Amino acid sequence: MAPSTYTRVTLQERPPEEITPTTFKQETVPFDLKPGRGQILVKILYLSLDPALRGFIKDQRSYMRPVQIGEVMRGHAFGEVIEAGPGSKYKVGDIVEGGFGWTEYGVFDDKVAEKIEHQPGLDILDFLGPLGTTGLTAYFGLLDVGKIKAGETLVVSGAAGATGSIVCQIGKKKGAKVVAIAGSVEKCQWLEKDLGVDKALNYKSPSFYDDFKKEVGYLDVFFDNVGGDILNFALTRLNQKARIVLCGAISDYNKAKPKGLSSYLNLISQRARIEGFIILDYAPRYAEARKEIAEWLKEGSLKRRFHVVQGLQNAAQAMNLLFTGGNTGKLVVQVSQTAAKL
Ligand SMILES: NC(=O)c1ccc[n+]([C@@H]2O[C@H](COP(=O)([O-])OP(=O)(O)OC[C@H]3O[C@@H](n4cnc5c(N)ncnc54)[C@H](OP(=O)(O)O)[C@@H]3O)[C@@H](O)[C@H]2O)c1
Repeated sequence: MAPSTYTRVTLQERPPEEITPTTFKQETVPFDLKPGRGQILVKILYLSLDPALRGFIKDQRSYMRPVQIGEVMRGHAFGEVIEAGPGSKYKVGDIVEGGFGWTEYGVFDDKVAEKIEHQPGLDILDFLGPLGTTGLTAYFGLLDVGKIKAGETLVVSGAAGATGSIVCQIGKKKGAKVVAIAGSVEKCQWLEKDLGVDKALNYKSPSFYDDFKKEVGYLDVFFDNVGGDILNFALTRLNQKARIVLCGAISDYNKAKPKGLSSYLNLISQRARIEGFIILDYAPRYAEARKEIAEWLKEGSLKRRFHVVQGLQNAAQAMNLLFTGGNTGKLVVQVSQTAAKL
């Protein structure tokens, strides 16, 4: 039974630095949603929170247009079809994913939704984690952009996060020596004891740069989620023909202008390559990656963690966990409950 009102979250102002309580506006609106031809009415169950969302609320050129003031905040989510319009290919009860945004309910065209084919041995949240954007980013970033090979030394920053934790494990599967970088003792213990990296370094330790030199020596692939000072230092520790995978630069997302790199000349002397990428470009190959990642999950050789925040009203505040390191693994918001077996 549909409620009389529902909640959605819109962009109210563009924050110069961290997201604040006035960045977004929570709106309770009458429930007047009715799917038309080829459309579905979706009750959102889980919403993915991603560092990229911080970029989408800046008024700047990027790979997607900025979210406009007053618009429902962008975000990837999955939910349950509670009504299918005439001619829709979906049926009531289907679980579908898509860029549904920060809302409890919405009407969407069939073509922007994709049915989730849940399988035994998987967690439904895997579709926002290892089988979603972050897992695919880890897979293609490391294998296609980084071209990791057995015996090489791989360094991963943001290693205890959703993307980094999968990169570390794929690196081990491919026979690399893996050194992980994360921001707490607990995260480093998880990376070493549960995920099996060769060494995890706490970048908040006063001895971090010495530890990096001692444990890494020189690196072949740097999978960077963080940017800033750690990237600048890593550039001084390159083997010849090293590859730097510029996946993200979360240390700079809340700043108006990054400080920049002073050590980039090492790219020349070491004949190294630094390359950014956007996972959306790999969409035609998602199926091949998902097949292999799903097999790893089912056999238990790929581990994952989820950090679940309850309620859409807490999504804005939870975004800052990504910047304070409050999350381990994939950060998601549970927007609604369902009676359906997930
Ligand atoms: N290129 C692409 O297509 C693509 C796709 C998906 C994600 N990404 C990028 O991948 C990166 C990771 O995304 P995610 O969704 O997996 O997030 P995540 O790693 O789960 O969460 C972000 C983590 O970054 C670390 N961090 C935050 N501020 C930091 C700082 N100043 N210095 C060092 N570490 C910091 C925190 O862990 P600590 O406790 O260790 O500090 C935090 O838990 C982001 O940069 C994101 O933009 C890129």
